[in-house]
Amino acid sequence: MTQALAADIDLFTDDALAHPHEHYRRIRDAGTAVHLDRYGVWALGRYDDVRAALNDWQTFTSSEGVALNPASRATTKGLIIATDPPYHDVLRGVLTEKLSPRALRVLHGGLHEQAQVLVDEVIARGEFDAVHDLARAFPVQVVMDLIGLPRSLGDRALGWAEAAFNAGGPDIARTRDAMPLLEDQFAFLAEMHKDDLVEGSFGWVIFDAADRGIIERESVVPLMSAYVTAGLDTTINAISAGIGYFADHPDQWAALRADRSLIPSAFNEIVRLESPLQWFSRVTTRDVVYDDVTIPAGERVLMLYGSANRDERKWGEDADVFDVRRDNMDHIGFGSGVHGCAGQGLARLEGLAVFTALAERVSSFEVGARERRLNNRIRGWASLSTTVTLG
Ligand code: HEM
Repeated sequence: MTQALAADIDLFTDDALAHPHEHYRRIRDAGTAVHLDRYGVWALGRYDDVRAALNDWQTFTSSEGVALNPASRATTKGLIIATDPPYHDVLRGVLTEKLSPRALRVLHGGLHEQAQVLVDEVIARGEFDAVHDLARAFPVQVVMDLIGLPRSLGDRALGWAEAAFNAGGPDIARTRDAMPLLEDQFAFLAEMHKDDLVEGSFGWVIFDAADRGIIERESVVPLMSAYVTAGLDTTINAISAGIGYFADHPDQWAALRADRSLIPSAFNEIVRLESPLQWFSRVTTRDVVYDDVTIPAGERVLMLYGSANRDERKWGEDADVFDVRRDNMDHIGFGSGVHGCAGQGLARLEGLAVFTALAERVSSFEVGARERRLNNRIRGWASLSTTVTLG
């Protein structure tokens, strides 16, 4: 009975993408697993259920793809995110060393310097777009350098990422419009050779793993694609969301400036509240019985990270409040389980570098005109017209 209250929800209209949280609340309140009739998929919205499902890949498989439409699933076949263990772990192992805490420690100083230069540059302009000039510029520099691709490819890669995340949606116009650019990305990467990449870079290491027979040759393009796509838009949206939150909550920025050790938990809080990646999906390999409902085997299920991260059952009545001191370590904005974000250490380091550089110079942010970007899977700002007060 309660299920029916949410069965009509469409999470992919412009309005729902701009304001998803009222829909998520309806889903959470309607029950554990809710069938969304319009797209014929189930949705899990409560924290405990999403987390449990993510940690049970045998029951909630990724190997049937994580997109909601068959065309996108066909194009992205073989992506790490669409592969189960044991081969998933082989793919994951290729860049484990590159993203290890030890490797990130080496990067640390360089990222701080890069962030400082960029922050000084944007502050000198007086007014800047925190999305375009700062939040995009920084991860593009960092990720393109790490992957071993020229920074000049950054704008094209951003277009690919936008398209890749849209392409995972249900069969609607926004999804269909994204398909050509998704295919463009795969076609571009398929033309690449090891020699096009800087020796020792992520991209080079992926080709090398194929040369050494560690991964299959046909895994090179999807693995490159995963890091190019996932490394950009996610961090970009977290950094810009953070600036939006700090503009709206000057007390939180003051607290962070007074105690810089709060920056890591502030970044977690941004990722919890914004959830730059709103969902992926899985397919059930057996009937899954909840108290109120059973999801039959073979059904597609949305894992609503954005909902779980605001579930009052987990976070309390102030779940929607931005609080940099919150105990938020176990949010699932980076996913959980075997597919838990491979780049989260890097993302945290980028966040630390940018917000440290800002904390050194900026006493407050003022955001004027702001525009949401509407993407089937990604939540973020299209632009934030920003000025800062120094001090
Ligand atoms: C704030 C920034 C980021 C957020 C919110 C984020 C979020 C996520 C989430 C939710 C997943 C899990 C997907 C699933 O459950 O199927 C994931 C996986 C992944 N992320 Fe991130 N991510 C971020 C940054 C990055 C960066 C910087 C990189 C790479 C340099 C990266 C690379 C990946 C990869 C390769 C996977 C797939 C892991 C696998 O399937 O084993 N991410 N990310």
